[in-house]
Amino acid sequence: MKFLVINGVNLNLTGKREKSVYGSATLEDINAKIAAFCKANGDSVEFYQSNIEGELVNKFHEAFLNKTCDAILFNAGAFTHYSYALRDAIAAIDIPVAEVHISNVHAREEFRHKSVLSEVCKGVVCGFGHGSYIAAIVGLKDCLSK
Ligand code: DQA
Repeated sequence: MKFLVINGVNLNLTGKREKSVYGSATLEDINAKIAAFCKANGDSVEFYQSNIEGELVNKFHEAFLNKTCDAILFNAGAFTHYSYALRDAIAAIDIPVAEVHISNVHAREEFRHKSVLSEVCKGVVCGFGHGSYIAAIVGLKDCLSK
């Protein structure tokens, strides 16, 4: 199975910003753990990060039009809470998408409790640090094998 992991705005600073919330593992550390998990399961994985909404939209289009993967993990960062453009991009494609968050967004500020993406995603995982990505892979693999 081929996975695409897309991280959005500010996620490039993971491990360097708000360590009490997001931990001290960098995005590179997290990606290495995801890559090792995928390899151990015979899966492949590609990583993409951008702080620019339109570039994230383009990545979804590319995955859809060029059939580059079987499933997508998406941590949109703060775009989660207000980006209708990203919501429409997810709705437009026929690839299952898991919404992922490092922190437990429901235990944080009110504005983080609302996601405009969840409705068009296959599932949502939050609060387990890098384990949220691993749990999402397990969930997506299970869905796709049915
Ligand atoms: C986040 C949660 C969002 O509310 C926040 O804006 C982020 C990171 C997470 O992974 O916990 O940037 O998506």
